[in-house]
Amino acid sequence: MANIAVLGYGTVGSGVVEVINTNRKNIESKANDNINIKYVLDLREFPDDPVQKILTHDFEDIINDDTIDVVVEVMGGTKPAFDFVKRSLEAGKSVCTSNKELVAAHGDELMAIAQENNVNFLFEASVGGGIPIIRPINRSITSDKILKIMGILNGTTNYMLTKMSREGLDYGDVLKDAQQKGYAERNPAADVEGFDACRKIAILTSLATGKRVDFNDIPTEGITNIGKKDIEYVNKMGASIKLLASADLSTENIWARVAPTIIMQENPLSSVNDVFNAILLEGNMLGEVMFYGKGAGKLATAAAVVSDIVEAIKHKGINLGVNWSKEKQELSDINEVEVRELVRVSYEDENKAKEGIISLFGEAAFIDLDENDDEFAFLTRKMREGSLKEKLGSLERSGSVKKVLNNIRVEG
Ligand code: HSE
Repeated sequence: MANIAVLGYGTVGSGVVEVINTNRKNIESKANDNINIKYVLDLREFPDDPVQKILTHDFEDIINDDTIDVVVEVMGGTKPAFDFVKRSLEAGKSVCTSNKELVAAHGDELMAIAQENNVNFLFEASVGGGIPIIRPINRSITSDKILKIMGILNGTTNYMLTKMSREGLDYGDVLKDAQQKGYAERNPAADVEGFDACRKIAILTSLATGKRVDFNDIPTEGITNIGKKDIEYVNKMGASIKLLASADLSTENIWARVAPTIIMQENPLSSVNDVFNAILLEGNMLGEVMFYGKGAGKLATAAAVVSDIVEAIKHKGINLGVNWSKEKQELSDINEVEVRELVRVSYEDENKAKEGIISLFGEAAFIDLDENDDEFAFLTRKMREGSLKEKLGSLERSGSVKKVLNNIRVEG
């Protein structure tokens, strides 16, 4: 019998209990053991839920119980999660978590503690919700050098951008909807400002390089600057806009970033809509491989956590080892990376604006949505990001355009 304790009875925690109770026979047969949820830790009471019988408000009940084999941390945040997880591992209990904040901030340290104590620290649900991606990188794609990672890693923003694009809705309305569906973080700034995707790409890049990627080093932009008008241009291009998290490991100048990005139709990521996430990896032997599925939501995320519980039970007393050392992976200056952008400008004199753009950018493809308004957009050629920023500054200063209204990266 494997005894488990679940820390947190929120969306994912209640999902973990539901997944185990719904699929118990199947899960136990795969784990080759019976599973007993012995405790659920939460500060709240749940009088109308059978969980009340196994509810505790005190973590000490769990840490002091030698019969607990696996602790499931689904509280979120790093305080007190870090302390609870560290103590659990030190006490010889494996930990399964969906907490990307915790993994991105302390993954290297917690994995080392797990190794010292011959237990496992597993975090399949921390990236891509229900999509298997951590185990495939750790256990399957081991013959390849990973050259590129491109991912739609945040379900909330993908849901919002899809709805904005399909239904012409405003930002505020779609955010409320995503919150009601249980996709968004408690503080949705983590989603819309790109912090959640930033932590997830830091985790994937750490696993791909085997070194610690500090998420603070990853240039991150969210979707708060993306409006209805930008989306109209993207639709006219026959493309989609996604909050894209990418990392390039193909040269020594490794870089990573999170930014709203226009993705052309031929890229398979362009058709990843709603709450779905996808991760496109490129290996030097394998070529491209794509992982696709629900990136957020109660049962999809809980299913990934439960897959870790099965893994922990099957490997009792055996540390599986993860290629993620404490050595820091330095990232290159993003200004050196080559990009292409869609730039929206307003003008007083259209011809003067176009001449100014051509003289600065050499070539540009113009897109006009409405001949009667005072704006258009243009697509730049590929150039260093630093040089593109300088040119946009010069364009505004030259007075040939009134204002640069927005500039959005275009993938490829
Ligand atoms: N808020 C996150 C998302 C939840 O929308 O992707 C899953 O990590």
